[in-house]
Amino acid sequence: MSSTPPMSGSEPTLPLPMRSPSARVSLLERVGGPEVVRRVTWEFYDRIGADPLLRPLFPEDMANGREKQALFLVQWMGGEPAYSARYGHPRLRRRHFPFVIDQRAAGRWLHHMAGALRATNVPEPEVAEILAALGPLAHQMVNADQDVPREPLGDVRMD
Ligand code: HEM
Repeated sequence: MSSTPPMSGSEPTLPLPMRSPSARVSLLERVGGPEVVRRVTWEFYDRIGADPLLRPLFPEDMANGREKQALFLVQWMGGEPAYSARYGHPRLRRRHFPFVIDQRAAGRWLHHMAGALRATNVPEPEVAEILAALGPLAHQMVNADQDVPREPLGDVRMD
């Protein structure tokens, strides 16, 4: 009394539910892969470095931060989890406590991310998707009026 049809060579395989092609492809693949994300990160850090409001928040040598940001973004877009392999859980809000971040800084950060994505020719639908996700995240980093521990964390591993 099984409802399963008998196996036969002519039996068509059940079709998968219709999905838009983009739903199967990670954001990372849609932007062009890890190399593109690295280029975006380099553009982004160059913009931060030239911003008089944001530059003082960052350490003098930004090379390490640039690398970490690239590893994080690749992972966040669905690529290799190399950031977490090295540093553990991102705990982004906690990791930003040492830096006094206000609403204006969050706005500048997003502005530079938008500029970096467009300068790298990331397709506009992906730019919109990334900014829609990073907008709320950037505003969660705002901690200027909060009593949070400000001591430097460096390259600490968190779980
Ligand atoms: C809201 C404005 C933001 C400001 C002003 C800011 C600033 C900073 C600063 C100063 C650092 C330290 C860099 C270094 O040690 O060289 C940092 C690290 C980092 N930021 Fe942000 N950030 C902001 C938002 C975000 C957002 C939205 C993300 C998520 C995409 C993010 C991801 C990271 C990551 C992954 C690191 C490295 C953390 C670590 O492992 O130490 N930041 N950020």
